[in-house]
Amino acid sequence: MKKAFVKSYGCQMNVYDASRMVDLLGREGFAETGAVEEADVVVLNTCHIREKAAEKVYSELGRLRVLKGERAEAGRPTTIVVAGCVAQAEGREILARAPGVDVVVGPQSYHRLPRLLEAAASAKVVDTEFPLEDKFDHLPARRTPGVSAFLTVQEGCDKFCAFCVVPYTRGAEVSRPAARILAEAERLAGAGARELTLIGQNVNAYHGEGPDGAPWSLGRLLHRLAAVPGLLRLRYTTSHPRDMDDALIAAHRDLPALMPYLHLPVQSGSDRILAAMNRRHDADTYRRLIDRVRAARADIALSSDFIVGFPGETDADHAATLRLVEETGFASAYSFKYSPRPGTPAAESGDAVPEDVKRARLAELQDLLEGQRQAFNRAAVGRTVEVLMEKPGRHPGQVAGKSPYLQAVQVEADPAAIGTVVPVRILRAGANSLFGEVAAAGTAAAPPPGGPAAAGPAAATPAAATPAAA
Ligand code: SAH
Ligand code: SF4
Ligand code: F3S
Repeated sequence: MKKAFVKSYGCQMNVYDASRMVDLLGREGFAETGAVEEADVVVLNTCHIREKAAEKVYSELGRLRVLKGERAEAGRPTTIVVAGCVAQAEGREILARAPGVDVVVGPQSYHRLPRLLEAAASAKVVDTEFPLEDKFDHLPARRTPGVSAFLTVQEGCDKFCAFCVVPYTRGAEVSRPAARILAEAERLAGAGARELTLIGQNVNAYHGEGPDGAPWSLGRLLHRLAAVPGLLRLRYTTSHPRDMDDALIAAHRDLPALMPYLHLPVQSGSDRILAAMNRRHDADTYRRLIDRVRAARADIALSSDFIVGFPGETDADHAATLRLVEETGFASAYSFKYSPRPGTPAAESGDAVPEDVKRARLAELQDLLEGQRQAFNRAAVGRTVEVLMEKPGRHPGQVAGKSPYLQAVQVEADPAAIGTVVPVRILRAGANSLFGEVAAAGTAAAPPPGGPAAAGPAAATPAAATPAAA
């Protein structure tokens, strides 16, 4: 049997796309392999978001070229495919820089992979079109989605933040029709999925056509998905603060299936930098938005993305970011040094922040965020939380699951519990996981510390418990 090795870089959408490519190649008779040296087809599903991410791909392609040579000597040809956002951004240039590559295919045309592989037998091929047909119509159904599955509801971005390549690599915002999403959700639930994470580059800008012909908001879509039999949990990512509308905030109040976790990137706490980034909101608007979300769902855990060292960022701007983090309190976060990207407006700006300053600011921000993350996790110890049991754990007798707040939990439990939500008493917080045991039957989840009036685990972050006086 022919074998395919598929590796993904970057965001969750790429992980999702990679799994769809595996399904597609499966239909063509390829078995997936984790051993690259035995693969007849190698797909790198690439990310262009920061320079480091893109450069990683070229060093991997260098290694693959050697491997391809060795396999050829043994009479085994290898087809190398570059998919994803580097493929979209660099197209044909990849063939010049990495001579081992046979196929370059962008994120909107990977459903054509079988045809491209066929064509690649005679000549190298590049397909970076944004085709009119919907790629989802051409992908096989997923048979084993797992307990927790991604579902793309929206792709592309019209926001054009000054630093970001996504509007160029993924194209304009497109929302899938609600009926298609519902049908896929029902299929996934039928195949064993208990949690769906709706994904999109700008997921809360979702405005897909509803069955009635009128556009549906994400809030409305979530309401409908909450009624799909078998689905126990819903999540969505990634959101933009400008698109957090009332219906979505209300969904956090009204839908028990919608998990109390929100990834809402803010990037900076400085109004000057937010304006230069073209984020189209200021820091106080973000703070007020968080207040509204917490009013709707007191125990919601927050997560965010930050960029330090954006061109022109001063010490005062950086201090404003630290202040926003202290006041808000995040359960988890991603933070990056600004990386100038070809073709983006910010890359043209002259006001670069020196590398050592960027490094120091990143370290300071990450210290603060890591302290909040650990405090958040420690606050779970001694409490009982509902855990969705997802797969066998690290050690025999353990099952790996997730808390409502997206914390990884290792539970002493019978694997028969996989696919169900179980009350788990948290015994210990490790560096990256919580550890717990199944709570006695009938044990209710503990109310947030300090009673229902206090914010839940979010209150465990020192900041949220005692908002810093600015
Ligand atoms: N669509 C999402 C995610 C975009 S990419 C959003 O709007 O938030 C994920 C994160 O990468 C961004 O939130 C940002 O923090 C970071 N990022 C994007 N471009 C970057 C760049 N040029 N340099 C450093 N970080 C970047
Ligand atoms: Fe990039 Fe901004 Fe769009 Fe997010 S909202 S994908 S950061 S341009
Ligand atoms: Fe990277 Fe493209 Fe995702 S640039 S972050 S893989 S949308």
